[in-house]
Amino acid sequence: MYLIAGRLWWYEGTKATQAEIITLELSPKMIATSRKAFQDYGVENRVKLIEGPADETRATLPTSSSASLNGEFDLIFVDANKDGYEGYVKTILDQKLLSPSGIILCDNVFARGLTIGADCAPWVNDHVRPYWLACGQDLDGFNTRLVQDERVDVVILPIFDGISQIRWRDS
Ligand SMILES: C[S@@+](CC[C@H](N)C(=O)[O-])C[C@H]1O[C@@H](n2cnc3c(N)ncnc32)[C@H](O)[C@@H]1O
Repeated sequence: MYLIAGRLWWYEGTKATQAEIITLELSPKMIATSRKAFQDYGVENRVKLIEGPADETRATLPTSSSASLNGEFDLIFVDANKDGYEGYVKTILDQKLLSPSGIILCDNVFARGLTIGADCAPWVNDHVRPYWLACGQDLDGFNTRLVQDERVDVVILPIFDGISQIRWRDS
C-alpha cells in the first residue's frame, strides 16, 4: 500500500532493528516498478511485496510472512483505497495482526478536508473533488465507527491530510 519511495523510507528507517517490511499492492504498474526498485536498491532481503487487492491478500498476511513474524506487526501503515480502510483495520484487529504495543497509522483521514463536510475545502478543484468527496464520506464513516470500537484508542493527528493513530486499549 505504499509507493516505492514510501517503501524505501520504511527500509531506511528500520536499519537499526532490521525489521521485516511487507507491502500490499494492487496495480501491476506499481508492482513492476516496485520490484525493480527493490532489486536496484538491494532491499529484497527485508521488503516483501504481496500482489493483489488488499481486500483479498490481507486475509493471507499471517501465513504469507515468515515464521519469525508470528502474525504480529509493530507498525501498520494504511494508505490504499479509502473505501477499504474500515475492512483493513477490522481484519488487523480481528486477526490480532498488531502487536500489543503496535501502532496502526491511517493516512488521509481528512480527505483534503472533505471528511468534515461537502462544503469544505473550496481549494479542491472540480477535477478531483468528486473523488475526494466520496473518500470523505467513506472516511467519515470509518472515523466515526472506529472511535466506538472498545478494543482500541484512536487519535487523529491534524498533520498533513490527517493521520489516525490506533493502538490497543490498555486492559
Ligand atoms: C496513495 S498511494 C500510497 C502512497 C505512499 N503512502 C507514499 O507516501 O509514497 C496508494 C497505493 O495503494 C495502492 N492501492 C489502491 N487500492 C489498493 C488495493 N485495493 N489493494 C492494494 N493496493 C491498493 C495503489 O495502487 C497505490 O500504489
